[in-house]
Amino acid sequence: MPDALILGIESSCDETGAAVVRSGQEILSNVVASQIPTHRPYGGVVPELASREHLRAIVPVVRQALAEAEQTYESIDAIAVTQGPGLAGSLLVGISFAKALAFGLEKPLIAVNHLEGHIHAVLLERQLSADAGLQFPVLALVVSGGHTHLYLARTQGTLWTYENIGHTRDDAAGEAFDKVAKLLGLGYPGGPIIDRLAAHGDPGAVKFQSSQIKHRDRRDRGRAASAGDHPRFDFSYSGIKTAVLRYVETHTLQTAIEARRQALKGIVKPTLEDYLRLSDKQTLDLVASFQRAMVEDLVEKTLAAAAEYDVQTLFVSGGVAANRELRMTFQREAEMQGIPVFFPSRSLSTDNAAMIAAAAFPKFLAGEFEAMDFSAEAGMALR
Ligand code: KG4
Ligand code: ZN
Repeated sequence: MPDALILGIESSCDETGAAVVRSGQEILSNVVASQIPTHRPYGGVVPELASREHLRAIVPVVRQALAEAEQTYESIDAIAVTQGPGLAGSLLVGISFAKALAFGLEKPLIAVNHLEGHIHAVLLERQLSADAGLQFPVLALVVSGGHTHLYLARTQGTLWTYENIGHTRDDAAGEAFDKVAKLLGLGYPGGPIIDRLAAHGDPGAVKFQSSQIKHRDRRDRGRAASAGDHPRFDFSYSGIKTAVLRYVETHTLQTAIEARRQALKGIVKPTLEDYLRLSDKQTLDLVASFQRAMVEDLVEKTLAAAAEYDVQTLFVSGGVAANRELRMTFQREAEMQGIPVFFPSRSLSTDNAAMIAAAAFPKFLAGEFEAMDFSAEAGMALR
């Protein structure tokens, strides 16, 4: 297999990333400029601010990625960039820059689906590849701030193909973590904060009804999907967010929440001790119970899909795959079902450009290059 150095560029949401990856697996550099401090005061990503920050960051981030990899613009073999899904204005910054580089350097340009990037993040840092005994079909759960998707992945030659067998009907899992953290006055982004706080509460304290995390149109469960006679495995997380809100209202937690929100505003970089000092037992129990309910639902549906489709391997990726309880539960339950489960390392679970360069490698081998006139696809599907 030929050696290839791919420069990956990622700008779909609130991280500007550039990375140099050798042959889809070996990371030579992986630079991520996070915009979290910019968006924190608004409690979520503001699209206009995101585009502006990408414009500021893109040139220095790419230069740093090349420098850290001890490479030059000339020494790389191809440029890969995220085409979608994501924020249109943000995607355009990365795409325009990648096109200019490819044109100026006369290098091939590869367009990558961000979700495929998350899936290929699993192959980084380890000798796991289609050639090295990876068993297909792979069932990939991509669980992030914008997506909760289940894909069956197969290979056709060097290229990977995907079939969606489930997705969220409303909020993505990461969105639920972020919204619950926001309504509890814990700040943004909520996933990493809830992850750390949950270990300090009782996960059995608050019982969420299973109806609160079932999608509304339950008649679809068990009904034949269009692509065969398998049921779909859809998710729904807006109900649990409402249930947390109801709990807050009925247990009159609002005053404590407002006090916490104000106190955290005055701390530039809150530590775990700050969060713990500002959270009473009832709040910690609520956070732990919420996380337990989310993890159980994600694991249960994914393993049910794995059994239904008789898959050989499980991948769990995307920002929420950084969650410790989710990883532990998947490991334990998948082992009981006899299916090997793989995750990216925790830092490669969230958005980065190494995963984009990794997903571009099979396309590089297949010569699947993009013409200069392709554009951002905010709602791009993965196939
Ligand atoms: O993949 P990602 O960086 O961006 C998207 O493509 O959406 O995922 C970000 C999401 C956010 O919702 C964030 O709260 C969540 O991933 N997240 C986590 C953890 N780390 C990030 N959720 C739960 N536990 C974590 N440790
Ligand atoms: Zn992502």
